Amino acid sequence: MQKDLRSCLQLLETSDLLLRVKKEVNPRFEIPALMKKAEKQGKAILFESVKRPGFRVTNNICGSRKAFALFFETSPEKIVQEWIRRVNHPIKPEVCSSGPVKETIKKGSEVDLSELPIVTHCAKDAGPYITAGIVVAKDPETGTRNVSINRMQYKGKNKLGIRMMPPQHLGLIREKWEKKGKPLEIAVAIGSHPFDILAAATTVAYGTDEFTISSSLRKEPLQLVKCEAVDLEVPAFAEIVLEGEVLPEVWEPEGPFGDFMQYYVPVMDNNVFIVKALTHRKDPIYQTIQAGSLEDTHYLALSREARLYQAVSQVADIQALSLVPTILGCAISIRKRFEGEPKNVAAAAFGAYSWLKYCVVVDHDVNVFDINDVWWAMATRSRPDRGLLIMENALGFPRDPFHIHTSKLGIDATAPLNQWEEFERKTVPGADDIHLEDYL
Ligand SMILES: Cc1cc2nc3c(=O)[nH]c(=O)nc-3n(C[C@H](O)[C@H](O)[C@H](O)COP(=O)(O)O)c2cc1C
Repeated sequence: MQKDLRSCLQLLETSDLLLRVKKEVNPRFEIPALMKKAEKQGKAILFESVKRPGFRVTNNICGSRKAFALFFETSPEKIVQEWIRRVNHPIKPEVCSSGPVKETIKKGSEVDLSELPIVTHCAKDAGPYITAGIVVAKDPETGTRNVSINRMQYKGKNKLGIRMMPPQHLGLIREKWEKKGKPLEIAVAIGSHPFDILAAATTVAYGTDEFTISSSLRKEPLQLVKCEAVDLEVPAFAEIVLEGEVLPEVWEPEGPFGDFMQYYVPVMDNNVFIVKALTHRKDPIYQTIQAGSLEDTHYLALSREARLYQAVSQVADIQALSLVPTILGCAISIRKRFEGEPKNVAAAAFGAYSWLKYCVVVDHDVNVFDINDVWWAMATRSRPDRGLLIMENALGFPRDPFHIHTSKLGIDATAPLNQWEEFERKTVPGADDIHLEDYL
């Protein structure tokens, strides 16, 4: 099992899934422009020379199911089942005395965030944004840990803008600390194993420690170390850690920021994070994620796919499902047993995951991981007059000033039952195994 981001990069490299960039690059727009090229190739990218001396930058560690499959040691089609299997065996993290993230420690006035290669991603972004920071906090009453990912806008030497709004758990925790008149202590780990990011991006019941999920995914305890300036623990093998306080009752404009829906979220009053300590490994790797990229979508999708898989399993013989390329739309393949069953599947999916807006149900012979195949099924098998499930005035994606996300559409794109002679897909014998290069 890979311990950290570095060993994951090694694994990707041995599988020809890593691009190394040796030429010096600028974190402002140049890095994200190159990230888009790496995304197209389905490969991770490591920038070895960055216009912020001392740091390397990486991105697109998990831009494809193929990469996730490597880390989960399974096939791309079976990742969701593997997730469910692992999470069903909870393992707690463990605190150890020290770890590589303590190789360099800077405190107080030594902290200077301008030394980090924080990336400016999009044309109208308010500035550089930390997008792959795993935020650790604790509930003031129970002491239970919460782990999430929250964007952070660079605002100065030791100052970041941070968005954390209830019902997101970090927002709830901030409110609790504020009621006590105390600042919220947080620690932010940057440069993480994909399982730690997956766990942080998972929405679980309030009070569940996401580092337990991360440990379960690893099949061994995640090793943590105590922070220097706050009463929190962070992954011992993280590349970089920022520690500090979110000021109570202080709100400042944050944004605009190019978000996961590919639009700019407008300027909003958000919180302020004052960084009191910065620790990092030798030759640290700064990790960044472009919101709305395939990597971001895969991170957000997997836990939600697991939730959907479990819900739909209750009502149908589910084969596979995919929330990529957008987590607002899902393709689900089933072995249909009854006419009408696909509508029940869509209803179960909408019930299990409120942000879901479109759900296309296809037969088992359709590849849900290939959007072209899903479109083919819709075009050749769905019946718009009978095969639609429309749900009005439902709960959807919450930031929705134009009420675009309050209705849902389920599409039955399955063939009529027991008509496989008519609907059997044509095949070309040998097409999967033949190599054109052998003939050129
Ligand atoms: C790369 C990435 C960036 C994210 N950025 C944000 C963000 O800026 N604000 C936010 O509310 N959620 C963001 N999320 C989603 C949250 O991390 C996710 O909803 C998480 O489950 C919330 O934590 P909670 O369950 O503790 O409330 C991001 C997720 C990923 C994968």
